[in-house]
Amino acid sequence: MQDDLLAAGRLLREGRILAFTGAGISTESGIPDFRGPDGVWTRLDPADFHISRFVADPEIRKRGWALHQQGQLWGARSQVRPNRGHLALVDLWREGRLVGCVTQNIDGLHQAAGLPDEAVAELHGNTRRARCLRCEQTWPTETVLEWVDAGAADPSCPNCGGIVKTATVMFGEMLPQREMERAWEMASTASAVLAIGSTLSVWPAAEIPARLAADGRPLVIVNQGPTEMDHVATIRLEGAAGVILPRLVEIAEGM
Ligand code: APR
Repeated sequence: MQDDLLAAGRLLREGRILAFTGAGISTESGIPDFRGPDGVWTRLDPADFHISRFVADPEIRKRGWALHQQGQLWGARSQVRPNRGHLALVDLWREGRLVGCVTQNIDGLHQAAGLPDEAVAELHGNTRRARCLRCEQTWPTETVLEWVDAGAADPSCPNCGGIVKTATVMFGEMLPQREMERAWEMASTASAVLAIGSTLSVWPAAEIPARLAADGRPLVIVNQGPTEMDHVATIRLEGAAGVILPRLVEIAEGM
């Protein structure tokens, strides 16, 4: 492990790194992942999180807004804070070693840790904003939660009466085109990929590390448990992101 840490630290020092993050980087902030041992999908049915269900069933919408209203679902009122893994990536950014962070997470913790908006591509959207599914008008999620506080359990768009939803990507929805373009722009300038806390099992997001690895750029995986790209990893570091990333940054900066 120590040799791998040193080798990965050398890569971080010499290179321009693309960070690719998943739910595992946020578990140490108290947010459950999806496919880990006690992940969300071990308790809930992903089918309930398909856009068709959300549009068809007002009870699913009301349940979601009530959870956001109570500060659950990592939304506008959530109290979760970044952890040492998020902060380590900010160090890499400030040292000029990170070309950017492509994240599948919707929790906004990379920005809360200190990465500027231009450094983060949120492929699955985020819970900070909400939008009308009909006229595409958007608001801060907190604004919509004030409508919920005032009694609108299933708030509709004041502009056109359409269904309102947080700006996250549900199963069955297209990924935000602009975020994908930004992610590929970052990837095009990266000399290596650091994949953190992801099973690398969900496409099209996973195409980014897969394509860079296929192009021969080193892929460093930091994860607890197996991922679907272990077989193409240059270096694989098993363990907690909040422990490994700060050590990697120390090595990169100390060399
Ligand atoms: N440090 C490192 N790895 C961790 C940690 C940690 N502290 N905690 C959990 N992990 C690992 C888990 O064991 C798991 O292998 O992180 C991985 C998280 O993988 P997933 O739960 O599949 O999450 P992710 O890859 O982000 O899922 C991608 O799937 O359901 C959709 O939209 C959802 O964005 C999500 C996408």
